[in-house]
Amino acid sequence: MVVTPINGRGPTTTAFLLCILMLENRVCAAASAVYVMGDSLVDVGNNNYLPLSIIKADFPHNGIDFPTGKPNGRFSNGQNAADFLAKKIGLPTSPPYLSLIGGATPPLSGVNFASGGAGILNETGGLLFKEAISLAQQLDYFTMVHDKLILELGPSGAQVHLSTSLFTIIIGSNDLFAYFNLGSIVAKQYTQQQYVDRMVSNFEGLLKTLYGLGARKLVVTGVGAIGCCPIQRKVNRTGECNVEINYWATKYNDGLKMMLQGLKSESTGLNYAYFDTYGAMVNLFQNHETYGFTEIKEACCGRGNLNADVACIPLATYCPNRRNHVFWDLYHPTEAVASLFSDILYNGTQELMVPMNIEELLRV
Ligand SMILES: *[C@@H]1O[C@H](CO)[C@@H](O)[C@H](O)[C@H]1NC(C)=O
Ligand SMILES: *[C@@H]1O[C@H](CO)[C@@H](O)[C@H](O)[C@H]1NC(C)=O
Ligand SMILES: *[C@@H]1O[C@H](CO)[C@@H](O)[C@H](O)[C@H]1NC(C)=O
Repeated sequence: MVVTPINGRGPTTTAFLLCILMLENRVCAAASAVYVMGDSLVDVGNNNYLPLSIIKADFPHNGIDFPTGKPNGRFSNGQNAADFLAKKIGLPTSPPYLSLIGGATPPLSGVNFASGGAGILNETGGLLFKEAISLAQQLDYFTMVHDKLILELGPSGAQVHLSTSLFTIIIGSNDLFAYFNLGSIVAKQYTQQQYVDRMVSNFEGLLKTLYGLGARKLVVTGVGAIGCCPIQRKVNRTGECNVEINYWATKYNDGLKMMLQGLKSESTGLNYAYFDTYGAMVNLFQNHETYGFTEIKEACCGRGNLNADVACIPLATYCPNRRNHVFWDLYHPTEAVASLFSDILYNGTQELMVPMNIEELLRV
């Protein structure tokens, strides 16, 4: 396509005009900021600031493949989905909210509120790991950022900023782990169906609040085949997945998808990209060699049966080749899987991204 420069405007202005005219879709794929909420899959260091939490990643061998080679609060050998998605969008990784305390102005390119162990339900983090920032609390923190944005940009400036920002929310696994934990209190209070319904309705309430604060572009992921992570497989004599947890993960995902559809139909200007994490994991397990993975059951870092008897703590050992393992530790994927899944989130097909992928979401 040939573009005639108008009145000597530079290339930046020309690209901007193109974007307004929607002549070149790729140029238009931009976001003002990325606000991230969720659990350890996208925590970039918030839990380092929690005094009571027993789920942390600020010690070896986490981070060995990170650019600095050092542990940094990511539950991974390297970068996680929050890093890869920011990179694809052309923004720096949003910093952990708790690193900004002390009156610092939050960066206009976004903030990350995610916390390892967090759940959709308030009680989840406490039940599993003593302390985590629940999704409701993450939203409270976002409200404070929102108020600062209004002071900085004015009401209409903040509205434009928020409506052109991505809100990425990756959460839900811990709520299910809390239910299916041995001796679970919540399992005595609710049936499985009541519990997943409660997850969905709580999530819906929180998303409505987010919409009310100006969010218009949501990236939401379903829960993966969490019954196949090493900590679940190790309790099965032949290393098979826990079918019950997987079943309720799919039931939750069904409810989540319906909720998102309904929310979009009643919320003017709201759009979302939903990632079928479960389907992506099943596909990965079935075709792992195609993607370069040879080890789908055993954790890379840990000790004992499937390296899942012990978490990735300093006394654990780790595999020499992280690139061929699906799991970094007893719960979390390797950097290689986070990268693969981020590619799908960004420009995957309808098979796993409904009703659109992130690239399309940025253009609506
Ligand atoms: C969850 O915690 C938040 C505070 O972060 C509170 O406002 C909310 O009412 C709680 N929700 C429920 C269902 O208890
Ligand atoms: C192991 O998993 C398989 C497949 O899910 C299941 O049929 C079997 O009952 C499990 N065995 C144990 C000991 O949990
Ligand atoms: C998706 O993006 C990746 C790079 O991030 C690229 O290699 C791939 O070709 C893209 N696929 C499509 C279908 O656009």
